[in-house]
Order: sequence, then C-alpha cells, then structure tokens
Amino acid sequence: MCGIVGYIGKRNAVDVMLQGLSKLEYRGYDSSGIAIVQGSEVLVNKAEGKLVNLQNKIEDLHLESSIGIGHTRWATHGRPSDYNAHPHTSQNGKFAVVHNGIVENYLRLKETYLADEVFTSETDTEVVAHLLEKFYNGSFEETVVKVLDVLEGAYALVMICADESDKIIACRKDSPMVLGIGDGESFIASDVPALLAYTRECMYIEQGELCVLTQDGITIKNHALEVIDKEVHTIEWDAEAAEKDGYEHFMLKEIFEQPTVFKKTIAGRIHGGEVQFDFDLSAEQVNSWNKIYIVACGTAYHAGLVGKAVIEKLARIPVEVEIASEFRYREPMLDEHTLVIVISQSGETADTVAALREAKKNGCKVMAVTNVVGSAIARESDYVIYIWAGPEISVASTKAYTTMLIAEYLLGVYLAQQKGMDNGALRAEILEGLQHLPDIAETMLTDAYLEQIQKAAEGYKDANDIFFIGRGLDWAIALEGSLKLKEISYIHAEAYAAGELKHGTLALVTDETPVIAICVQDATYDKIASNIKEVKAREANVLAIINEGDEETQKFVDETIAIPRIHNFVAPVLAVIPLQLISYYTAKVRGCEIDQPRNLAKSVTVE
Ligand code: M6R
Repeated sequence: MCGIVGYIGKRNAVDVMLQGLSKLEYRGYDSSGIAIVQGSEVLVNKAEGKLVNLQNKIEDLHLESSIGIGHTRWATHGRPSDYNAHPHTSQNGKFAVVHNGIVENYLRLKETYLADEVFTSETDTEVVAHLLEKFYNGSFEETVVKVLDVLEGAYALVMICADESDKIIACRKDSPMVLGIGDGESFIASDVPALLAYTRECMYIEQGELCVLTQDGITIKNHALEVIDKEVHTIEWDAEAAEKDGYEHFMLKEIFEQPTVFKKTIAGRIHGGEVQFDFDLSAEQVNSWNKIYIVACGTAYHAGLVGKAVIEKLARIPVEVEIASEFRYREPMLDEHTLVIVISQSGETADTVAALREAKKNGCKVMAVTNVVGSAIARESDYVIYIWAGPEISVASTKAYTTMLIAEYLLGVYLAQQKGMDNGALRAEILEGLQHLPDIAETMLTDAYLEQIQKAAEGYKDANDIFFIGRGLDWAIALEGSLKLKEISYIHAEAYAAGELKHGTLALVTDETPVIAICVQDATYDKIASNIKEVKAREANVLAIINEGDEETQKFVDETIAIPRIHNFVAPVLAVIPLQLISYYTAKVRGCEIDQPRNLAKSVTVE
C-alpha cells in the first residue's frame, strides 16, 4: 500500500525521498510524488506509473531543499493519475500532505467546511490539505490537532507548511509509520527499508501521537500537545537483507533464504527437548483455553490452516481458522476461555489488527505470530512469537509462510508440553524434524532441481486454469500453491480438497486443465492416488509433488517433483517450496512483473 518518506536535515531532501521511496516500491503503487519547500512556496511534482517516471520528470529541474515529503500511491479513491497522486496541497498552496489510509468522512467534511473550495483531485486526502488551510491559526501544530479532531477513518499523515518550514508534522491512526533519528536530520517512513541507508535508531508512533520532526530532533506530543517520552529502538535488519543481492527478483532471493531463516526461527527455542518462548504460560493458563481462533489474511491464513492441524493434534485444543476480514463482522463467540492467535508477516494488516482489537475487547488473550518487531500487531498482543524471517520485500510471501509454519509447530509442541500431555515421543520426533529442516531444505535448491521446475513451468505458460489438489496437510499446501500462482502469474488457479472434486468441480477438468497434486502425506496416500486417477481419466495432465523414493506415483502421473523424506507432519514446509518455484518460473516465462504484481500491495493497511 502507499509508501511515505519525509525528511528534514542537512542533505538534499529530494535525494533522500527518491532513495527511500525506491525502497518502498515493494509495497505496491501506481503513482508517486514529492513536495519540498523552496522559499515561501511548496513545490510539488508527481507522476503516474513507476517511480522512474517521477525521476525522469524532475531530473532537469535540479531541485534542492532541506525539507520534503514523498509518497507512492496505491489507488483507493480516484484512478491512478498525476492529479490523484500525492502530495496534495491546500488551495493557497501553503500546505502539502501525504497520506496512507482512508479518510472515511471526506465527503461530509467537504460539505461542512469546504463547500466553496475547488478540488483538483478525486481523493479523500485532498480535504486534509484544505482543512489545514481553513483551520490555520498561526500554529501548525495546533492546526493539525484541530484537523485530526474532525477526521474519521485510518491514516498515516505527513504534512508540511511553507510558513513553518522548519518542521514536518506526522500522525497516525491504524496506519503504520516509523521515525528515524539522525545527527542533524530526522526521517519518517512507512517502513524500515526506507531508513536503513541513513540510520538504525528509530521510534514507533502510537495511535493519536503527534510527531514534530526538525533538523535538531523529533518531539512526540499527545493530543494536548504535551511532550511524551519515547523509547528509542535499534533496527536489527541488515541493509543488505533488503537488497536483491544478485538475484533477479526478491521472490527468488527470499525462496533461497529459507534454509537460513529456518535456523533463525528455531534458534534459541529448543532446550533439552522442550520449547521455550519469550513468554511463559502456566499449565493453568493453557488449560483455561477451551478454544483457539487463528485469524489472518491471505498466505498467513493458509499458514493458520496448518496451525489448526498442528495444535489440535499436539495440544488437543479445538482450533477454528478465520479470515480476518470476516471475523469481526460475524460476532464470533469470544471470552476469556478463548485464545486468539493472529498471524501476519507485516504485523500491520488492517483486517488482522481489527480482529485483534475485537478479541481483546471481548476479554481474550491474543498471541501474535509476526515478522515485524514493533508492528501494531506485535505491540498490541499479549504474547508474541517472531518468525525472524528478515525483510520480505516480494509481494508474494514465501519465507514468511514457511517460517510461520515452523513457529506453529513450535507453538503446538509448547502448548502440549505446558499442558503436560503424554505425547512426549511425538513432540520429540517433531522437534527433531524441525531441527533437520534447514539442512534438508538447503539440499533441495540445486541447479538441477531448479531446471526441472523451470521446465515444468514452461508447460504452464499458456494455461488458463490450473487445479491444485491435496488432502489434509497437503490440501493446506495446495491452497497456498494456488494463491501464489494466481498472484504473480495471473493464471486462474484453484485448490481443492481432492476428495471434494467429484462433488462438482470435476466437471471442469479436461485435457486443458493441468492439475498439480500434492501427495506427500502417507495417511491419505491411497485416497489422493484414487483422486489423481479420477482426473487422469478426464485427460488432465498431472504433475505430482511426491516424497523422494515414491516410485508408485510415478507410474500414473505425467511428471513428478520430489521433496526429501522428512517427518510427515513437518513435510508441508518442504512441500511448498517446489510450488513457490513453479509460480515463480511460470510468472517469469509469462513475462509478469514478479515482485510487484498488478493491483496488489505488500502491506494491506486498509480494510
Ligand atoms: O502481512 P500479512 O501477513 O498480514 O499479509 C497478509 C496477506 O496480505 C498476504 O499474506 C498476501 O496474501 C500475500 N501477498 C500472499 O503472497
């Protein structure tokens, strides 16, 4: 979703903004723009399309300023265009605003306060700039507070005023932003990668706080404009971790990083055959939960489906998995005997944050499984399990998904162990499997393996529809495989619990609908084998993901890709890797823009 960068200090703000915005491109956008102060004027430049269009547009202008705000826009109100791109200015051109989120009452605000004004865009954001002019009383800070008082919705807002060009003011409600502290300079951005080239010292902004950035530092104030003390954090990520590092795409790099990050997810969490987290749950606490909800979106939701199987099997607590955007609108039955687990790579997904708050409002304890330290979800949850996947830049999630699974295995073992369940032998086997995962995953990513998958992907180049089938845990993986394929290759793909095909969908299967079958789980092998034969009888071409050494399946499918043998229960972590690679190479052979697929954003901060 929209990316924001603001800078004030000794460097040329234009360079800092363009560099920062380029690091936020992964969030997804359709236009970009910057505003600087020159003399007593705010100067704005914007361009539809990629950031390079903006760069080309301003190249010969040799713009310089010590203060500026920049933005990459992901359209919500008004189509992608130069005029809808941010920053937006007030009618007198003195104020400029960039915004992430939605001002829900913007039409009412226009009618109530700005009926006579001329607007130059279709956006909700422009009202904020106009209101700043309307309410201005000689104090930029007081004026911002007055404007915030009438805004409804979600926002991260960063604003400048030509008449008070020694400061940038920023505030947020439900949309993320992080402040960067420099020496004689201050930064603000929607996400950490935009800051990494300049500083590691950062502060996270809480709801309702007003941040005043000057060359001399950053002051945080409350609604009454009283100064608040704020903790300074050090960003641990390597700058290199947010670079492509020789890979053609971030997605491929992140697939290859999996063996390394698996180690990080597991590190320090297994001691003497037991799992430990940063929190400590008593048997009494765990036994008080008679139900668990896992709530998440997209890929994180798919991870939740594996989590359900893992927790139910190991800790024998019933688990329901819910799509976050549905969860709070259907009045789920929540109380203090329910644990709600929210899963989110970014920790900022608006629907998941809303579900978390709904759970807390109803007296539930909330546990977060997330990648981003200091994210809203991490801050607002009672217990946090970090997946330690490092920055995931590609919109299509890969390493975050597999590390979410590992975190869930650890959690399943932990809950069972804290409850004192008598399944110690199974827990030990799972922990052993997890400890072998990094090395085993490493052995998969050979050139020969990639070539084999690349060849299979070429066969999908012209497909219109592809079906993924599996049973049990293999079905959960099938769902993730199909999402990945449609997300980046734009091929229509569906995943089915294989036994369900004959209840309707089999009617669609022909020699023109390739099928990818995941047949890794031993317990359901005979069943999936029959289901494969059903689609083969309808002349579908079948590629099967099998366990190494499975000669049987090779006899009745068109092609196989093997994963190394590992404990069946943890096999989903490996089985999804060929599916990630199939999506990647299919998108590549179709010439798709892999890291930033059309219409999508990395971090979905609007509901
Ligand atoms: O940051 P989150 O994990 O909360 O994001 C949830 C989904 O938006 C995300 O997983 C999305 O489905 C991915 N782009 C899929 O690859």
